[in-house]
Amino acid sequence: MRKNIVAGNWKMNKTLQEGIHLAEELNNILKNKKVSCDIILAPPFTHLASIAQVVDPKLIKVAAQNCSDKEQGAYTGEVSAEMIKSTGASHVIIGHSERRQYYHETNEIIKNKITIALKTGLNPIFCFGELLAERESNRHFEVVKTQLHESLFALSPDDFSKIVLSYEPVWAIGTGKNASVEQAEEIHAFVRQELQKKYGQQVANDTTILYGGSCKPSNAKELFSSADVDGGLIGGASLVAADFMGIIESF
Ligand code: PGA
Repeated sequence: MRKNIVAGNWKMNKTLQEGIHLAEELNNILKNKKVSCDIILAPPFTHLASIAQVVDPKLIKVAAQNCSDKEQGAYTGEVSAEMIKSTGASHVIIGHSERRQYYHETNEIIKNKITIALKTGLNPIFCFGELLAERESNRHFEVVKTQLHESLFALSPDDFSKIVLSYEPVWAIGTGKNASVEQAEEIHAFVRQELQKKYGQQVANDTTILYGGSCKPSNAKELFSSADVDGGLIGGASLVAADFMGIIESF
């Protein structure tokens, strides 16, 4: 059975002290609440070990926002999957559009990152989605299909089952303009079809597919009510406990 997940991607926000404070605040709220989804926080690398220590792993899991495409060695400034794993994190976001856009990550680089993350025992949260121009020229299905095929579809079914997918139309990220429920559902259903063709019905049913892009308390309930939307990857609205909780409670 697939899981519902709400994940917070803090991006390059919050000092270590601010991050620990927010993680503790969420952990305290969640101690006294029953929620119907898994919760993941993705703070910057520098915060991972500290945050993994202050949260109860039964309530909150910790993810990195990226990892190196190299395993180890002379790669100044890089952070390996193994280092991430050693902080207590269980997940890693890979292929976020900001990495693709600003740091020129290709489907091939992302594929290498996924392979290393899986080998290390981290669960990848794989992000994909089209640019505005691609949607406007009606190429969104083709773009999404290529991203899936080039970065993921060489994986064994067993490895694939450890991956969380997150559809993030680039035009919806940080813009305040979320995809409509119909737009999200259409892509999520299409992705599930592609999964079914490649890995069979069981894997297609069991894969969690999140939506990301201007998801907030006011639209989460509607988005999550869609049959194929299993939660959200939340940027801006994950930086304030009340907003993030509002999204979690949409389930
Ligand atoms: P946003 O970001 O919620 O701020 O639009 C989502 C994301 O990039 O994961």
